[in-house]
Amino acid sequence: MESRARVTHQIEVLRQQLRHHEHLYYVLDQPEISDAQYDTLMNELKQLEAQHPELITPDSPTQRVGGKPADGFGKVAHSRPMLSLDNAYNADELRAWEQRVRDALPSTETVRFECELKLDGLSLALHYEPTAQGGVQLVRGLTRGDGTVGEDVTTNVRTIRSVPLSVSHSQLSLAGLLLQGAAAAFEVRGEVVLPYAAFRKMNEEREAQGLAAAANPRNAAAGTLRTLEPNVVAQRRLEFYAYFLLREGEMLQPLQTQALESLREAGFRVNTHTRTVASLDEVLRFLDEAEALRETLGYEIDGVVIKVDDTAQQRRLGFTGKAPRWAIAYKFAARAGVTQLQGVSFQVGRTGKVTPVAELMPVLISGTTVTRATLHNADEIARLGVKIGDFVQVERGGDVIPKIVGVVQDATHPRGATEVVFPKVCAECGGHLVKVEGEVDWRCVNASCPARIREELLHFASRGVMNVEGLGDVMVGQLLAAGLVKTIPDLYQLKIRKAELLALERVGEKSAQALLDEIERSKQAPLARVLYGMGIRFVGERTAQLLAEHFGSLDAIIRASTEELEAVQEVGPRVAGAIVEFFAEAKNQQLVEALREAGLNFTAEKKVRGTALAGLTLVLTGTLPTLTREDAKAMIEAAGGKVSGSVSKKTSYVVAGEEAGSKLEKAQALGVPVLDEAGLQELLQRAQPQ
Ligand code: IVH
Repeated sequence: MESRARVTHQIEVLRQQLRHHEHLYYVLDQPEISDAQYDTLMNELKQLEAQHPELITPDSPTQRVGGKPADGFGKVAHSRPMLSLDNAYNADELRAWEQRVRDALPSTETVRFECELKLDGLSLALHYEPTAQGGVQLVRGLTRGDGTVGEDVTTNVRTIRSVPLSVSHSQLSLAGLLLQGAAAAFEVRGEVVLPYAAFRKMNEEREAQGLAAAANPRNAAAGTLRTLEPNVVAQRRLEFYAYFLLREGEMLQPLQTQALESLREAGFRVNTHTRTVASLDEVLRFLDEAEALRETLGYEIDGVVIKVDDTAQQRRLGFTGKAPRWAIAYKFAARAGVTQLQGVSFQVGRTGKVTPVAELMPVLISGTTVTRATLHNADEIARLGVKIGDFVQVERGGDVIPKIVGVVQDATHPRGATEVVFPKVCAECGGHLVKVEGEVDWRCVNASCPARIREELLHFASRGVMNVEGLGDVMVGQLLAAGLVKTIPDLYQLKIRKAELLALERVGEKSAQALLDEIERSKQAPLARVLYGMGIRFVGERTAQLLAEHFGSLDAIIRASTEELEAVQEVGPRVAGAIVEFFAEAKNQQLVEALREAGLNFTAEKKVRGTALAGLTLVLTGTLPTLTREDAKAMIEAAGGKVSGSVSKKTSYVVAGEEAGSKLEKAQALGVPVLDEAGLQELLQRAQPQ
């Protein structure tokens, strides 16, 4: 018999291992094990917890996404107001602030300043409370709200991997957070950000689903944290950086520098680009360095926050209205400029979507020459009221395509005269543009439009799809111009046309062979990538992955009805309809057959559970001749069945081995069918997907 104490111990060890690896991965960026090894540990824990649901605790690593969708967010008062900061835009304003600080304190006191990056996200307050085990656990996560009362977003916050769900007694001790030797409640405040990579991915997915893209990472982070679907939040890869440590609304450590150190010791992610200095000159040097750093970071910052390091001094300095006197935000100059709109071109994307692009008089914006900016769509042009010849305000985010934020109207910037006319026909193929009722975008519906084909090829070859290195803008343009490639499958015929490939400008033997090798290698790409690469509307990376896992082969997906497609998690009627429509088209059927012939991967490792044991509950008892308990359980679950620990009338089968005891007797008493190992194997055989 399994002793309960042993299981409890096993569960605790797994949890500690998982927390350790999550900390290495999400907080320190220094993973020590592979994702697969991590998944194995997580699955082991999930299995044990499934067998012993009474041992599940809210701070278990399995519980990050346990919550149900919320039907709104509760309102909770902050322990002390979450204020904003006064801003400074230059050295003079900073000096004036420093003078005010020094004037307010006795002249004999030295003042040290602690500099931190000003992360461009949204602030969050996390509340931790003691547990029976001597540590603390996360009990609440609040947005800033109106500064006095925040919104309770705990369920969503739990999905952010860099937010510790609990802090153990020994970590608290190490971090100096115990109160008379015992755990005590505290609050951590910090910033939630969406790194550029996650932001890009989110917008790609949204576009694939026909949704409007988020304007910048901050909006995306705010929107994500306030969605009512914890599942969606979990996928988005938000990050939390801690910068305040409070107890009962007061700074917990004598120095801000120490607070950051404690937070780090307690397992929180703290930004490493901080510096504690003794003079304003040193602050200014940090600002210069931060501005250079800004171009290299994977997330957006919009300035530097300078804080008086000593929290006793902070208390004496106090607040003015909405902001503390002891801190100030130095804001970087906006990455913006003014230039003239010389014309508008209309780009046709892979899905036929037409995007108006501003052609600008070249302008230097924080080190980068900007010549084009997006105007998004016809509605945006109308909203801006922009005309050709106008002087426009252009903004560049760290990672975002430059965009026009407004028209400049004054004496030195005369208004332009030419209205922007949205075309009725595609500039590339002359086909009619169509606008679907209720959508903002105009589309070219000609599937053979050269612009669409170009974009389809680029998408197919891009990173994250088939990942064909060397097949970028220039090469695709050359291949199309030379008529060497007209459709995606033509790529796989290139190897027999190497002479023609070599005849292209700037293509030598080496680069031609490298490209052919890359194309050949792409045949190994998993089905999900192939499916994503086909460019089915609304089928983004994630949907493709789910479809491949669920159906196991492209043919099964092609055969599936809309109902069957909708059985896949996250696939609704619109997506299912688009898939059916796609494969019903003769042109796309030809695409499929040509890709099959080329030898691409049309089957997936079928990770998904079978369905033949779906709805059945089995109980294992005794020792089976060849299978361990774990193996048998895994096999049953893989076939969609459930394994339970006790026999009842609802039990479908009892699988009994040697020395089966009371469970076998109970099965016989209740008339539940009993199988031996061979019987189980037979049942599983029948459960095999055909
Ligand atoms: S300290 C009393 N530190 O900037 C409020 N804020 O403009 C002191 N922010 O609402 C906030 N990075 O959302 C602080 N390292 C940092 C920050 C930071 C970003 C945000 C925060 C705050 C806003 C104030």
